[in-house]
Amino acid sequence: MVLISLVTGASSGLGRVLAELLCEKGHRVYVIARRKNLLEELKKQCKNLEGEVIIIPGDLSDGNFRKKLISQILKKEKKIDYLFNNAGFGRAILFEKQNKKEIENMFKVNVIAYEHLAALVLSSMKKSNNGRIINIGSVVAFTPLPYFTAYNSTKSAVYGFNRSLIYELKGLKVTSTVVLPARMKTGFAEKAYDCYKEKGRNMCIEKFNKIAESPYVVAKNIIKNMNKGKEIITPTLRAKMWYSTRYFGFVVDFVMKYILGPKERKHLEQAVLKEDYKNS
Ligand SMILES: NC(=O)c1ccc[n+]([C@@H]2O[C@H](COP(=O)([O-])OP(=O)(O)OC[C@H]3O[C@@H](n4cnc5c(N)ncnc54)[C@H](OP(=O)(O)O)[C@@H]3O)[C@@H](O)[C@H]2O)c1
Repeated sequence: MVLISLVTGASSGLGRVLAELLCEKGHRVYVIARRKNLLEELKKQCKNLEGEVIIIPGDLSDGNFRKKLISQILKKEKKIDYLFNNAGFGRAILFEKQNKKEIENMFKVNVIAYEHLAALVLSSMKKSNNGRIINIGSVVAFTPLPYFTAYNSTKSAVYGFNRSLIYELKGLKVTSTVVLPARMKTGFAEKAYDCYKEKGRNMCIEKFNKIAESPYVVAKNIIKNMNKGKEIITPTLRAKMWYSTRYFGFVVDFVMKYILGPKERKHLEQAVLKEDYKNS
């Protein structure tokens, strides 16, 4: 029987690679994002592989869209085997300067959509006693990157959500996992920074991506572990290292306050929104 997967945020980055790998494994993959043209490219690419891609473009911050999405898939397929809650975005900015609508939207996409989609698939998964929910969190839940305050708190919420949900799933073959990747080279930085441009190059993005890992390596590890029902997946050595620092919270705080924080602030002060930092 064909396996049914749903991947949110599949138009770029980690979600796109996850969808490709699932397609390679023969899954029927429902892919969600706002940029329809990119989802169509993905569909074309999957044509030469074992599985199938079905695109459903839309905005995950919209609760009605989320409801229709799940009922449409369940009506047609009668099941969802894998839900990959992956869509998300961040913003590097002084917290009080961040647009309040953006904070709200960030929570809608990064947290509420994850919880809502999980709630919508759980009844069907529990009925068949089969299903995997994979939530893409981040190591920032334990090592919060300075000036990403709203984003960091959404990822802490994803971690907390998963940790609590697994208590409810005890004894079932329905599992929920949180993945904690470290920095990845995806479309993330491009959206997160209002960067200054130097010689036509976007400096903050380049700096962020310099030490970022390949989403392909991360996705490969997720696929390898997705049926193990683990509480947590740390997909790379760097992710494991960051995650292990949770035992040394005071060291993390020191590094963030006195080393990485000031460095990041200097970095942001050179950005377009320079005036915002003058009196803060
Ligand atoms: N890159 C990193 O350093 C890093 C590290 C740890 C964790 N993560 C997490 O990894 C996940 C994937 O991000 P990425 O790094 O692959 O970044 P990305 O390349 O920017 O991908 C983000 C995806 O989310 C989708 N998305 C954003 N807002 C949406 C909305 N309102 N409705 C529907 N889809 C939406 C985007 O699609 P559209 O714009 O087409 O809608 C895109 O497909 C995120 O949860 C991110 O927080 C990233």
